Amino acid sequence: MNPPDSITLTRPDDWHLHLRDGPEMAAVLPDTARRFARAIVMPNLKPPVTTVAAARAYRDRILAALPQGMDFEPLMTLYLTDATPAAEMRLARESGFVHGVKLYPAGATTNSASGVTDLRKCAAALDAMQEVGLPLLLHGEVTDQAVDVFDRERVFVENTLAGLVRDYPRLKLVLEHITTREAAEFVAAAGPQVAATITAHHLLMNRNALFQGGVRPHHYCLPILKRELHREALVRAATSGSTKFFLGTDSAPHARHTKETDCGCAGMYTANAGIELYAEVFDQAAALDRLEGFASLHGPAFYGLPRNTGTITLKRIPMAVPGEIPYGAHTLVPLRAGGTVAWSLV
Ligand code: NCD
Ligand code: ZN
Repeated sequence: MNPPDSITLTRPDDWHLHLRDGPEMAAVLPDTARRFARAIVMPNLKPPVTTVAAARAYRDRILAALPQGMDFEPLMTLYLTDATPAAEMRLARESGFVHGVKLYPAGATTNSASGVTDLRKCAAALDAMQEVGLPLLLHGEVTDQAVDVFDRERVFVENTLAGLVRDYPRLKLVLEHITTREAAEFVAAAGPQVAATITAHHLLMNRNALFQGGVRPHHYCLPILKRELHREALVRAATSGSTKFFLGTDSAPHARHTKETDCGCAGMYTANAGIELYAEVFDQAAALDRLEGFASLHGPAFYGLPRNTGTITLKRIPMAVPGEIPYGAHTLVPLRAGGTVAWSLV
């Protein structure tokens, strides 16, 4: 049978997204809202979103920036710190709009300076999250500078995640943006309370993309791209049909001049092709029939949310990607800038 040239899916959700704030947020939000009904919005603003009150205000700013007629629900998260009180976790659950709490190991990535320095300091908060059923979303990398940057996720899985799952057996955990075979295997083997998001860029590229013809700052993100064998393991996990794996773009906009510089920021912008890039991956793996589960069904089932009611249709028509996209007072360079993506949203 020939692969289909058109595919209709239940409207998807993005379970890991950076929207930033102010004019930058207003610039990127329509790209996501055009494709996704909902998104888990990361809390790593400056200062980070650490309270339910701050999450409510951020949510209001997102909704105010949404163009007329666009239908999109931001699913808010809180940023866990060493000092997060257990009571805030209960308030979060009761709020109805906070759907997870993000753990950034201090110093692991963009805007993570206020992150957790020692998980033991979060015991009361983690107990409360387990009790009220609030998922913990993990940036799963160790920050020990003695550990090779390509090994930081694997070492986190071995040294931190295994213990966390053992100590909090009922805590819902999402290992965000997994990049290694070891992470995929750990999640597949764990209980149903453990799941993972996978980005399009980690499914499409290996670490050679960092040095394709020269150093490529727009392919630099954290966790960093890995070897081909890891990319292949991620594609197998995403296309396996397992409900433990779901879509999270980790679209992370940065102004062009902050990437094309001596010490450039980590993060790739993919929201402008947020579902189309995944269609390419699933098509290449001859698994387009599994895209809907990954993009639209597994996430809501894990988070205990209803499925979306609308649909979207993708066609095998190349979509041109602009060389740059307006971003507040600046511009940003999206993934595949100046190139094409093999599928288009119709
Ligand atoms: C993210 C960002 O820019 O906020 N960067 C990235 O490389 N993914 C932070 C993160 O998710 O680690
Ligand atoms: Zn992220």
